[in-house]
Amino acid sequence: MSNVMHPDVEKIIISQEQIQNRVKELGRQLTEDYRGKELVVIGILRGAAVFLADLIREIDLYMEIDFMGVSSYGLATKSSGVVRITKDLESTITDRDVLIVEDIVDSGLTLKYIVENLRSRKPRSIQICTLLDKPARRVEGVEVAYNGFVIPDEFVVGYGLDYAEKYRNLPYVGVLKPEIYTT
Ligand code: IMP
Ligand code: MG
Repeated sequence: MSNVMHPDVEKIIISQEQIQNRVKELGRQLTEDYRGKELVVIGILRGAAVFLADLIREIDLYMEIDFMGVSSYGLATKSSGVVRITKDLESTITDRDVLIVEDIVDSGLTLKYIVENLRSRKPRSIQICTLLDKPARRVEGVEVAYNGFVIPDEFVVGYGLDYAEKYRNLPYVGVLKPEIYTT
């Protein structure tokens, strides 16, 4: 998709260029922090797929990648707190250094569940890397070690994030026109 604004988008909050620069910085930081460790990068489907694909190419280390599918919302724009694993890991993470890659931390409910679930498998370490953090709506305390951008309390789409499964392929993060959310 081109960087020209999509007709359903009201405004771009984070441009493609800003994302690229920040992903490079995060990759450099992670390369330093995980040197000598047994890195397993775990992407949370489906929202984190775009971020993960770019991020891992900025990390200059041996690593394994795996994916976990969770569903928390259905088509609503608020977390129900009910999280369901729709696809489990294929790799073993025991004694390894797990980096969870997520698109956004909103209420924190999804990540709280995932971290507890993964911790029970006894990794050596477990940290979170999220593209976006929306601290205004946090109800569960989750420790985010790596964060791309802090954003205000608005429902955003693009760069992996969806509204009703659409807009994941936008190369920027933006807010939709109000009529799109209500129809
Ligand atoms: P939480 O459990 O409330 O932290 O929600 C996390 C999940 O909700 C994310 O992985 C996203 O899939 C989704 N989500 C939360 N906020 C947004 C948003 O602004 N746009 C798109 N998806 C969102
Ligand atoms: Mg979603």
